[in-house]
Amino acid sequence: MTELGPVAWPPAPIRTERLVLREPEARDRAAIIELFTSPEVGTYIGGPQPRDEFERAVPEVPRRRPGLFVVDLDGAMIGIVTLDRRDAERPGHVRPDAAEAELGYMFLPEAWGCGYATEACAAALDWFAGALPSEPVVLCTQTANDRSMRLAAKLGFTEVERFEEYGAEQWFGVWSSVTPSG
Ligand SMILES: CC(C)(COP(=O)(O)OP(=O)(O)OC[C@H]1O[C@@H](n2cnc3c(N)ncnc32)[C@H](O)[C@@H]1OP(=O)(O)O)[C@@H](O)C(=O)NCCC(=O)NCCS
Repeated sequence: MTELGPVAWPPAPIRTERLVLREPEARDRAAIIELFTSPEVGTYIGGPQPRDEFERAVPEVPRRRPGLFVVDLDGAMIGIVTLDRRDAERPGHVRPDAAEAELGYMFLPEAWGCGYATEACAAALDWFAGALPSEPVVLCTQTANDRSMRLAAKLGFTEVERFEEYGAEQWFGVWSSVTPSG
């Protein structure tokens, strides 16, 4: 995974009906540690990070980078949405030069089941479509990850292929802001 480029970063905070997508702040540190060390969150994404080690590694102000949005509900972080460049050597590509923009999302379990992930990801995709018009976005998720599979469908991703990776079946889909003509 490499950082998203070429985009002007950071954009102004993105406001949706209930949420704000913004850069990480010092006050998000505890929620970020919670997110990455939660066994529930880690179930289909390689497991949780070891808490002690992870806590030591997260700086006072969690690292900011192009493509990383903290999702804020009433001033508190409930999850993150990311847009990165997919590594060329991994399976799953829709462009001859690889390096597609790839959507990722992780939310704290107490924020599941409210439509927040749909709302935040749709806003991030909308921002992306404005920043890099006509570029597709890809998404890869384990087929066993029901919540993530439903989210991908709601966002308008369509299946390209399925393959095995990390010992599990993966669903690989694509989204485009350009409506196909004809
Ligand atoms: C994947 C993940 C983000 C999905 O979260 P989620 O809360 O299920 O996703 P959504 O925002 O789409 O919410 C949908 C649910 O909210 C409900 N909902 C309630 N109010 C709603 C509203 N106002 N608008 C929309 N949906 C609403 C929907 O009915 C749906 O419930 P259901 O799943 O019981 O049918 C979350 O499970 C997660 O963080 N998982 C761990 C990390 C992970 O695996 N990431 C995938 C990496 S590929």
